[in-house]
Amino acid sequence: MSELQNVVWHNATVKRAHREKLNGHRSCIVWFTGLSGAGKSTLAHAVEEALHHKGCRTFVLDGDNVRHGLSADLGFSETHRKENIRRIAEAAKLMMEAGVITLTAFISPFAAERNAARRLVPHGDFLEIYCKADLATCETRDPKGLYKKARAGEIQNYTGIDSPYEPPSNPELIVDTQAQDLNSCMDHILGLLILRGIIPS
Ligand code: ADX
Repeated sequence: MSELQNVVWHNATVKRAHREKLNGHRSCIVWFTGLSGAGKSTLAHAVEEALHHKGCRTFVLDGDNVRHGLSADLGFSETHRKENIRRIAEAAKLMMEAGVITLTAFISPFAAERNAARRLVPHGDFLEIYCKADLATCETRDPKGLYKKARAGEIQNYTGIDSPYEPPSNPELIVDTQAQDLNSCMDHILGLLILRGIIPS
């Protein structure tokens, strides 16, 4: 028998809708996915800054930061990446319930885990943004020098080198970070948030 059967869900009286009303905007999860170096973190933080200036409540859950804390015990095997994404999805759901526009920037290479994250929240609350840039471009950017190390065999299981990346088949938005500049990508994302009624126009 699971110990969970003795844990009873407590219903809050201050609900998400009340918080959204107080904030003057809706909450959601903006889930960035893409190869390392595709621009997920840069975009997530740029969008957050723009939203913050508009007076919105936001938070970015970022791969490199979360792996120092919440997922400090995890590496990059398939099992650990799945657990990493499961934790992030649950954390993002809590933040969304708190009324926050929650932006997540993780490679999240497996479609199954991204879809599981999507299923955690009501329909329409999960916006998947595919940061599209081919491997050659990401490798040229190599801001942390990790592709170079992976090619030299100093890092194993590196996404795109010896670990797979499954592009989303039906994301809410594709931003081509090779062809479009940062401002243009940002405008597309802000446009989506307006279109979906998350923020006022
Ligand atoms: S995920 O696959 O579990 O979603 P996550 O986004 O948290 O990955 O972490 C990716 C970041 O960790 C990369 O941007 C890179 O800086 C660093 N990293 C270190 N080792 C690896 C690896 N083997 N594969 C991918 N990224 C790695």
